[in-house]
Amino acid sequence: ATQAQASGAHDSPVVYAHRGASAYAPENTLAAVDAADDLGIDWVENDVQLTKDGVLVVVHDTTLNRTTDAEEVFPDRAPWAVKDFTAAEIAKLDAGSWFGPGFAGARVPTLTQYLHRIERNRQNLLLEIKSPEIYPGIERETLRVLRTHGWLDRGHVKRRLIIQSFGAESVKTVHAQRPDVVTGFLGTPTVAELPSYAAFTDQINPSYTTIGADYVAEVQKLKGAHGKPLKVNTWTVNDAAKAAEVAGFGVDGIITNNPDIVRDATR
Ligand code: G3P
Ligand code: CA
Repeated sequence: ATQAQASGAHDSPVVYAHRGASAYAPENTLAAVDAADDLGIDWVENDVQLTKDGVLVVVHDTTLNRTTDAEEVFPDRAPWAVKDFTAAEIAKLDAGSWFGPGFAGARVPTLTQYLHRIERNRQNLLLEIKSPEIYPGIERETLRVLRTHGWLDRGHVKRRLIIQSFGAESVKTVHAQRPDVVTGFLGTPTVAELPSYAAFTDQINPSYTTIGADYVAEVQKLKGAHGKPLKVNTWTVNDAAKAAEVAGFGVDGIITNNPDIVRDATR
């Protein structure tokens, strides 16, 4: 434990499995959330985007070719943008073989499929609205799907859901449409800018490469959109020494591909 933890100055950070436990299973698949569950990790991070026919799917890149076999299945569809494919087309893709033969046949899940799996696993969700500038209306559709599956019920909203984005306008839109939902802004606003962010978000979630103990303290001094101290969840920290260092900064959470390593290094 860090000195601060040993002295009880702050709790161990919450550990978020980034794109699932993505060091151990293909990112953003059901196998990756199951891998996190197998490690006893109860928070998973994902990325959502909209298909051509308006279905929310869980995938990180705005193109399909890094994490699926889209180039082989649809050779004439370069650059394989998510927004140019229907959900039925995306459902045909193999999202596991690139990671390892043991994961052949893993699919790009719809948000609905993903929610069913994490509900079964009793996991919590840090949902990222990815590249919102490409997807007008993605906030409303995300909230609609979440509501349909009970994720905007009081218990879920209070304890089990955070919606974050690199797009400040997107976070503002979520906050305006569902003020009860906990939100996060992905980035590192200056200290002078922080109060304007605190009006619509509960968390400032920066790259670990951009922060130190002073910045974390400045953020946590302020109250967020729900009147509680603004939190800091930092990403993407995959090794034990760095995890111990950022835990020493007093961060509230660490987003990691290796949740077992980070948990063991910070508790
Ligand atoms: O949750 C933080 C992290 O996911 C942000 O970066 O590119 O992995 O979506 P990225
Ligand atoms: Ca993400």
